[in-house]
Amino acid sequence: MTQAGPVAIAAAAVLDDGAIVEVRFSDGRARRFPSLWLRDHCETPDCLHPETQQRLVDVFAFDAPVLAAGAGPAEGGRTLRVVWRSEDHESRLSADLLAGVDDGGAPETARSLWPDAAFPDGLPTVPYAAVRAGDAGMLDWLETVERVGFCLVDGVPPTPDATRDLAERIAYLRQTIFGDFWDAAANMEHADTAYTPLAITPHTDSTYSIDAPGLQMFHVIEFDGEGGESVLVDAFAIAEDVRRDHPEAFAALSTIPVPARYLEDGVHLEARRPVIRLDAAGRVEQVSFNHHDRAPFLLPEAEQRAFYDAYGLFHRMASEPARQLVFGLRPGGVLLFDNWRTLHGRLAYSGRRRLCGAYHNREDFESRLRTLRRSQARKAA
Ligand SMILES: [Fe+2]
Repeated sequence: MTQAGPVAIAAAAVLDDGAIVEVRFSDGRARRFPSLWLRDHCETPDCLHPETQQRLVDVFAFDAPVLAAGAGPAEGGRTLRVVWRSEDHESRLSADLLAGVDDGGAPETARSLWPDAAFPDGLPTVPYAAVRAGDAGMLDWLETVERVGFCLVDGVPPTPDATRDLAERIAYLRQTIFGDFWDAAANMEHADTAYTPLAITPHTDSTYSIDAPGLQMFHVIEFDGEGGESVLVDAFAIAEDVRRDHPEAFAALSTIPVPARYLEDGVHLEARRPVIRLDAAGRVEQVSFNHHDRAPFLLPEAEQRAFYDAYGLFHRMASEPARQLVFGLRPGGVLLFDNWRTLHGRLAYSGRRRLCGAYHNREDFESRLRTLRRSQARKAA
């Protein structure tokens, strides 16, 4: 990301009898801030802890209404200075905060959807050496996953240790009923089709988990048979196609909570959420789709019909060959994908196939992206 240099505060005016402060920035933009908001976000050391960045001021304990008496640029425009009517305190707020604060219409992550699974320039791939070399390679890998929904790493030593090390370079691993790192040949260690050589239709993992893992990583470290190709489908592309072409199905999929469960001896996990979960602005935030793990539930008749129509449509779209990216995973090629977006499946196989992998929490993926971006921006500055 390139930046045109820091934005400064050019001027400020107290409006609305002290209730509003309008700030004009050096780039010509103007923003209005309620005085209560400014007092709540004051950045002096007694209001915002300088080390932890945690709020210390409590505007809800104030007796008098918060009204500005005066406001203007300070420190060469790097901060806004505000003085108050009923309080002897001089507030400071940085230009960075005022210019950059999210106004609720957060810019959508630059997503690149692939309704047709065509990658004429090859699948998104980063070299193992680049990921290990430092933050730039790691950021490139994770930003590709954020944008496209998956990315491969090639040249990884086909060992569990190297795979685990690579996964831990992203963030600490998610602990689940399968452990934190799995290393499995076909067996029935767990009551799950993933542990058999059968075909698995495209799905997201852990629909039965309240907080489904945000990332999943696979590495086939041994394979001596036939088949077993991975299948990936962009579920966000399906969601947008359904929204455009089938509004009734979209309404059903984005509002009817679907229960899912996982049962094995001593375990009964259960969670429910709509197939398409939207954020407050109506953007698709998460797809949860797993036909195998859906739990029994009964709806009123008309709603039940609407659900089956919509779920069947989504299922058929996920099975369309044109939407399915099918490729062989071989030792050395690690696949990392967004488990809130990209459906994954597998064709049946013969022979011995040893697969290892791990999950990461969504929040740790996002945290790593933020810290990597900050460190790269600092280097570029
Ligand atoms: Fe899976």
